[in-house]
Amino acid sequence: MSTSTHYMYDHLHQWLILGNNMSHTVQLLNDSVFSIITDIAIAIPNNNDYFLYDVYNHCKSCGGLINITELGTWTGQDGLRITLRTDKFSRRWDYHKMRIKVAGLITDRGENQSLVEYLREQNNMSTDNWSKFGFTIIEHVKDLFNFTFELIELDHWEKNDSVGPLISGLHQGKYHIGYFPSIITVERLNRADVILQVWPMRTCFIFLTKPSLKVDMNIIFRPFSRNVWYVIFLLIITIIFALWIILKLETHVADSDYGITVLITVAALCQQGLPFMSSTQVSSRVAFLHTMIFGLLVYNYYSAAIVSSRLNVPLDKMNDSLYSLVKSKMKLAAYKDLYFNYLLRYPADDVQYFAKYWNNIPEDKRYLSLEDGVKGISNLRFAYHTEPTNVYPLIDRSFDKEMICQLTEVHLFRPGTLALWTTQRSPFQEITKIGLIRIYTSGIRKREVLRWSYRKPYCNKDKHYVSSVTIHEMIPIILVLCFGIVLSAIICFMENVVFDIMHKKQEQIKESENRLKKRNPKNIVSQIKSIVKTKKLPTTKRNIIFKK
Ligand SMILES: *[C@@H]1O[C@H](CO)[C@@H](O)[C@H](O)[C@H]1NC(C)=O
Ligand SMILES: *[C@@H]1O[C@H](CO)[C@@H](O)[C@H](O)[C@H]1NC(C)=O
Ligand SMILES: *[C@@H]1O[C@H](CO)[C@@H](O)[C@H](O)[C@H]1NC(C)=O
Ligand SMILES: *[C@@H]1O[C@H](CO)[C@@H](O)[C@H](O)[C@H]1NC(C)=O
Ligand SMILES: *[C@@H]1O[C@H](CO)[C@@H](O)[C@H](O)[C@H]1NC(C)=O
Ligand SMILES: *[C@@H]1O[C@H](CO)[C@@H](O)[C@H](O)[C@H]1NC(C)=O
Ligand SMILES: *[C@@H]1O[C@H](CO)[C@@H](O)[C@H](O)[C@H]1NC(C)=O
Repeated sequence: MSTSTHYMYDHLHQWLILGNNMSHTVQLLNDSVFSIITDIAIAIPNNNDYFLYDVYNHCKSCGGLINITELGTWTGQDGLRITLRTDKFSRRWDYHKMRIKVAGLITDRGENQSLVEYLREQNNMSTDNWSKFGFTIIEHVKDLFNFTFELIELDHWEKNDSVGPLISGLHQGKYHIGYFPSIITVERLNRADVILQVWPMRTCFIFLTKPSLKVDMNIIFRPFSRNVWYVIFLLIITIIFALWIILKLETHVADSDYGITVLITVAALCQQGLPFMSSTQVSSRVAFLHTMIFGLLVYNYYSAAIVSSRLNVPLDKMNDSLYSLVKSKMKLAAYKDLYFNYLLRYPADDVQYFAKYWNNIPEDKRYLSLEDGVKGISNLRFAYHTEPTNVYPLIDRSFDKEMICQLTEVHLFRPGTLALWTTQRSPFQEITKIGLIRIYTSGIRKREVLRWSYRKPYCNKDKHYVSSVTIHEMIPIILVLCFGIVLSAIICFMENVVFDIMHKKQEQIKESENRLKKRNPKNIVSQIKSIVKTKKLPTTKRNIIFKK
């Protein structure tokens, strides 16, 4: 009795029981926790020899009978002779249509449809795909080991139930296997055993990211990274300086100041005509040539970068963080999944932070149906939470290509793999594990996953290349132009004011000059000339003044 309460018929223990006669010994055995892996040999004496028997029971609680098979003999002369040499599993695999209770969560079954029919049916809008997938997988195991199912359907989640109806049912031993894949948590592991992780799952908030309408001055600078800009400016300054020196050294070039070298360099960079320079010396020609080639290269890289950034305009998508989602103050709603509240209890910091925010949303505004949710997504600033495969079919049907590319996802349950479960120390733990591993490695699981999930809507980025430049992209360029206009207007204004002042001064000087001329004409003219030279008026204006 204590051997069965301590589950000592597992892989770790092998038993040899010496009995007097078979019927009596078997009566003494408590086979309620026997399973396919039980390793018991009973030795029954026969004169001086022993007959050995192999004993097991697939599952007593499912109506299994104890199976006694001859294992071998032990004789004084020959010693031990084993006749049952096949492997335990290949010998015991056949469950002879034993009925095993399996349970899962079903939410959408029609009244007049049988459960088996429903679980095998493949239709387009079903939301019970998890159960259907799990059932298909478990059915493969069923076929491998020749047992049958007694199907149980669970349809609600008690408020006070912290681990879910499936796991608590397994814990109470109401059924043996769950065909509904469930999230693995420590709390659940204390109540049931995992067979294998089979079903990939994630849940997320889905919303649209519209191209930003903010004016981004960066558009002008983005083609080059920061250090490239630094290098270009450094080179420009070097070029200006070098050109200036070269032109200075060429004595016959008339106008060789900083102004003209800056103009030359900027003209080269902008691929515009140079102010004409008649220079015969090789050094300055080489300098010009290099400046222009430099300008050509920089110009081409710049325009190429602009073109490429136009082709893949980066959408400013939110990063996959619940903190960012809360900060965005977007309107939120969720599909009322059975397990939604369970997800919110996940102990990670970001989930807990989010749960607090979520609980402040009024109860009646929290949940929306799939159709309304998808409609909501197409409006701006609305995020809808569900398992993405639930809404992908709707999105595929109702969203245009551009909107599909703008879809943004922020995960609540990060991509993970859900598991199938059995009761703790289940007699089926071993065979389901073997069966599922076979299904896994043969690729059946992958095929079934594809069959029961909907593919992500495909974002075709190539369609972007015909989009025309919008005014938002133009604004920075227009701003640069406006800035130039305003700057030149200001300078023009200042020059004119300065000119006016100079002009008046000039008049005064002329008047006084005239007055002086009358007295002593020769002396004064030379005096005035020297005054003007020391004052250094702007060249052009000085000429104008003097021509008058
Ligand atoms: C057999 O073992 C089970 C589990 O430990 C126990 O509940 C049951 O009472 C036992 N049966 C007998 C006949 O001792
Ligand atoms: C089996 O052995 C038990 C005790 O060891 C004995 O009471 C019983 O009579 C035996 N039965 C037969 C059929 O020999
Ligand atoms: C009993 O076990 C043997 C092998 O150990 C097997 O061949 C036989 O089919 C089993 N019988 C029943 C009724 O399970
Ligand atoms: C499954 O078990 C039933 C009932 O014992 C038996 O008739 C059938 O032959 C078994 N199937 C296989 C494939 O062995
Ligand atoms: C939950 O409450 C119901 C009655 O409302 C009760 O029957 C059930 O045992 C409770 N379950 C747990 C896990 O406390
Ligand atoms: C997401 O972006 C925010 C700022 O927008 C930042 O604070 C946060 O660390 C980022 N999170 C992750 C996971 O990248
Ligand atoms: C469920 O499976 C069906 C059939 O394979 C598929 O058409 C449907 O899109 C799936 N639904 C979801 C929500 O994945």
